[in-house]
Amino acid sequence: MIKIEKLVKTYGNHIRAVDGLDFTVRNGEILGFIGPNGAGKTTTIKMMTGILKPDSGNVMINDYSMRTQALKAKQEIGYIADSPDLFLRLKGIEYLNLISDIYGVSTKDRKERIKEFASRFDMLEALGDAMQNYSHGMRQKIMVIGALVHNPAVWILDEPLTGLDPKSAFALKQMMREHADAGNSVFFSTHVLEVAEKLCDRVIIINHGKKLFDGSIETLRENRKEEDLEKIFLEMTAYE
Ligand SMILES: Nc1ncnc2c1ncn2[C@@H]1O[C@H](COP(=O)(O)OP(=O)(O)O)[C@@H](O)[C@H]1O
Ligand SMILES: [Mg+2]
Repeated sequence: MIKIEKLVKTYGNHIRAVDGLDFTVRNGEILGFIGPNGAGKTTTIKMMTGILKPDSGNVMINDYSMRTQALKAKQEIGYIADSPDLFLRLKGIEYLNLISDIYGVSTKDRKERIKEFASRFDMLEALGDAMQNYSHGMRQKIMVIGALVHNPAVWILDEPLTGLDPKSAFALKQMMREHADAGNSVFFSTHVLEVAEKLCDRVIIINHGKKLFDGSIETLRENRKEEDLEKIFLEMTAYE
């Protein structure tokens, strides 16, 4: 479970990127965090994962407070950043072993998990190649595997589907569903509302760091009296 309480983050003196966000992601749920570019999604996610310190407010991960029990909170999280271009000199398998070492994943567990995830993403053969020779999509897939190799309960994914080919996107969506169905929280951001339609149990739409909507896609359609999600999204985020 993820609980966000009155989060605020201002860059410099005036850009209020996140402006008093409150929400909860329950166990068993996939929550889509949706907003146009610059809406404040990545800033929120960086505070959720403890990378950025909020000006005020707090984040709870499975009842651990990011303010007072950050290490415990972070150990619960599998995080995929929005840019997969770190550690490019390493081979895929070297990167995954590094992450496994950091999290203390046993040799047996890491072998099993890396084999399972890599085969679902068609990455088994590429594990021995340097990541600088990977495509964007392949880098993204390695980051996904790295985020999951310590078997975290809470998944926090920043634009995880960007750059993935249809087959890998399908595999990841399936994994997200399985993980939520096993009773865990899955939270991911996207700037495309349609992505959320089939996948999410609930969506939160934000713009200018503020929450515009929190509920199911069906409720959103009913509220707006409109079927076309793209139209709804553009209308909702058009106002300055
Ligand atoms: N490091 C930073 N310094 C100053 N402004 C930033 C920084 N990171 C993001 N911003 C600004 O904060 C706002 C929210 O950005 P971001 O959280 O990246 O949005 P999103 O992920 O929804 O595209 C934008 O106006 C962006 O320009
Ligand atoms: Mg972003």
